[in-house]
Amino acid sequence: MDGKTALVTGASRGIGLAIAQRLCEAGANVLLVSRKAEGLADAVASLHGLDGHASWAVAHVAKEEDAQRTVETCLERLGSLDVLVNNAGTNPYFGPMLEISPALLQKTYEINQASVVLWSQAAWRSAMAENGGVILNMASVGGLGPEPMIGWYDVTKAAIIHITKQLAYELGPTVRVNAIAPGLVKTELARALWEPGEEAIAARLPMRRLGVPDDIATASLFMVSDEASWITGQTLVVDGGTSNMASGGVSIT
Ligand SMILES: NC(=O)c1ccc[n+]([C@@H]2O[C@H](COP(=O)([O-])OP(=O)(O)OC[C@H]3O[C@@H](n4cnc5c(N)ncnc54)[C@H](OP(=O)(O)O)[C@@H]3O)[C@@H](O)[C@H]2O)c1
Repeated sequence: MDGKTALVTGASRGIGLAIAQRLCEAGANVLLVSRKAEGLADAVASLHGLDGHASWAVAHVAKEEDAQRTVETCLERLGSLDVLVNNAGTNPYFGPMLEISPALLQKTYEINQASVVLWSQAAWRSAMAENGGVILNMASVGGLGPEPMIGWYDVTKAAIIHITKQLAYELGPTVRVNAIAPGLVKTELARALWEPGEEAIAARLPMRRLGVPDDIATASLFMVSDEASWITGQTLVVDGGTSNMASGGVSIT
């Protein structure tokens, strides 16, 4: 990734920070993006000394003006935008989908789903239409089928899988667009899912452990690299085998 530039949303912690780290280790210059300056400053400090240069910008992924402004910041500061990682996501509701409020329907839709289109539009219009590039979207194994309690979140992740196919068609051949579908990864977002019964959940999985952010980051690095130059429109499942289980009893995200 030497000389490449990348913008990673939701990069102040968890999966996004691990992706930023892998990109920097591989020589890319990376702009880390999230809502809170404090977390971003700490995240960038943790990447100090790696091959690529890291810096940060505050943005809310659901805001169109933030997408445009942040892409411009990336171009001004880093000189180009080769890789966009649409990683930021949220899950503000836990319960039956039929009981979710209109406000939380909208919030989850805007942050998880519509943002993928808004940030891809900004990247395409300001940089990738002319120079090409790669987009990677963070879906979930929850987007592959129904599961208890996080149904609407899963709908937005299923949409990301389809948006990925659609954008791959619309932006090819100069821009590749792929997604990763993680299983349960030990981060803040998923804490309520894994903390109460980590050992019991892990025991039911083929790999007998939950994911860690770097499991997703290593796969992400491959997907955005030139090694994957004939892969587009795909969703790579990285879940320790979770989605192969027929039990239906494994709570995943
Ligand atoms: N962990 C899992 O088991 C799992 C499984 C499948 C898929 N995923 C997906 O992986 C992605 C990363 O999740 P994670 O588990 O790493 O979560 P996390 O550790 O909670 O990190 C979420 C990141 O997103 C940022 N963020 C949240 N809302 C934002 C917004 N509106 N605008 C900009 N940034 C925002 C947060 O920073 P600020 O608070 O500073 O904004 C933080 O950097 C998400 O799309 C998630 O759905 C996770």
